[in-house]
Amino acid sequence: MNDKEIAVVTGAGQGIGLATVKRLVADGFHVVMVDRNPEPLGNAAAALRAASNSVEHFALSITDRPAVAAMIATLPRIDVLVNNAAIFWDGTFDATTEDDYKQMYEVNVIGTFIVSQEAVKVMPRGGRIINVASRAYLAGYAHAPYITSKAGTVGLTRGMAIDLAERGIMVNAIAPGLIETDMFRSMSAERQQEMIAKQPTKMVGQPEDIANGIAFFADPRSRNVTGQILALDGGRSMGITVW
Ligand SMILES: NC(=O)c1ccc[n+]([C@@H]2O[C@H](COP(=O)([O-])OP(=O)(O)OC[C@H]3O[C@@H](n4cnc5c(N)ncnc54)[C@H](O)[C@@H]3O)[C@@H](O)[C@H]2O)c1
Repeated sequence: MNDKEIAVVTGAGQGIGLATVKRLVADGFHVVMVDRNPEPLGNAAAALRAASNSVEHFALSITDRPAVAAMIATLPRIDVLVNNAAIFWDGTFDATTEDDYKQMYEVNVIGTFIVSQEAVKVMPRGGRIINVASRAYLAGYAHAPYITSKAGTVGLTRGMAIDLAERGIMVNAIAPGLIETDMFRSMSAERQQEMIAKQPTKMVGQPEDIANGIAFFADPRSRNVTGQILALDGGRSMGITVW
């Protein structure tokens, strides 16, 4: 890794996380790939290394603080942290259980908190943290636990931005709209079409669209930007169509 800046990306085995890894190595970072699903993670990291990209990988859950701390202890420092790992499901309010709520909050909010708290211990010269929230933090049909968790991610972003600003650690969030990944494909075809129809652009975005926004906040030249929520959502957050 030598003189490269070091970026940690969670949920790096596929989707938006993997696109972000590719973008950040292209931008000159050494990237530490983290995911709880070992096989896709290992395959993706091996393919990137075979193409001479500067990456390493760790299979762990962001909710496992000892595993997160052990991973971070192997790094000389962290310059950029991308908290991208999250879970999602679609389901009616009546069918939602307390366990659904707890599990989603545990991963999407507490997991993000754990990795951030451990990472800032090795950001002696400041850094940039990017939390991947969702446009859904504003509203959406049939995923109340996810909406709650992503509103929590936005709140955590703002709280961290205030508390860490004097240490030169900038904390921002991306609020993606519909992006074509396994998370999007986990919804029924009917539900996918229903959601695309509500987009002002009438299209679904690609993981690279989100990686582009993350790369902006990860850039050292964004050192004066903190506490911001950037919607990359085909305009849906403007509220000009029905929710
Ligand atoms: N795809 C969309 O339409 C969309 C829209 C808005 C926001 N987002 C957000 O973007 C981010 C990435 O989503 P995606 O679409 O690429 O999803 P995805 O399901 O394709 O990938 C998520 C990755 O996170 C990993 N992960 C899940 N829980 C983990 C844990 N506890 N520890 C470590 N890794 C874990 C999974 O193994 C997976 O590799 C998420 O935060 C998601 O909420 C996605």
